[in-house]
Amino acid sequence: MSVVISPSLLAADIGNLSEELALLDQYGIPVLHIDIMDGHFVPNMSFGPDQIKMMRSLCKAEFDVHMMVQEPDRYIPAFVDAGADRITIHVEATTHVHRSLQLIASYGKKIGIALNPGTPVDMCKHVLGMVDIVLVMSVNPGFGGQKSITDMLGKIEELAQLKEQHGYSYTIQVDGGINQSNIASFVEAGAEDIVMGSAIFQKGRTEENMKAFENWLKS
Ligand code: DX5
Ligand code: ZN
Repeated sequence: MSVVISPSLLAADIGNLSEELALLDQYGIPVLHIDIMDGHFVPNMSFGPDQIKMMRSLCKAEFDVHMMVQEPDRYIPAFVDAGADRITIHVEATTHVHRSLQLIASYGKKIGIALNPGTPVDMCKHVLGMVDIVLVMSVNPGFGGQKSITDMLGKIEELAQLKEQHGYSYTIQVDGGINQSNIASFVEAGAEDIVMGSAIFQKGRTEENMKAFENWLKS
């Protein structure tokens, strides 16, 4: 099983965004995780489609757009147009989950479903056969730099078991509070795509931090 690190742009130095993106692009990151917050589904705001469009020309990585947005269908076309390659929506944010996911798929984009810490896997069982990504939030979404909730390990194990039992093809992604001291437990539980914000961008040592985590994964 190969595990990837997806840097979360929220923790980057936004005042120097073009430099940050150039550095990530030069490093050759395969995936960039971009958090979209609407001030409604979560108590914070971040980027919108116009910003994503500007970023698109600065970084070749796959754009993994994590929509923490109520009623995501309203904005999915705009994020597709802005250059998103994957779009993940929250199961708690839409009344008709299957319909929202189909909307993303209709544009030929990868589809992801995210679960807040308090949401059980049962809530998305009916769509597990159609998604490319299941995102397990290991913090209450809305802010970077929070402490992870270790209870989420059981949810990751459950998703790994279901994947094996049914031959599903989704990637298990985990997001929030992952760092040097706990990454191993999330990987052991079955996480395959590790989103990291502060642990990657901390102290302006983005490249060194990426290398250290990637070397650890190879070892
Ligand atoms: C939280 C976001 C995360 C966040 C992760 O709502 O979805 O992607 O940027 O940041 P860290 O790794 O600092 O918890
Ligand atoms: Zn995120």
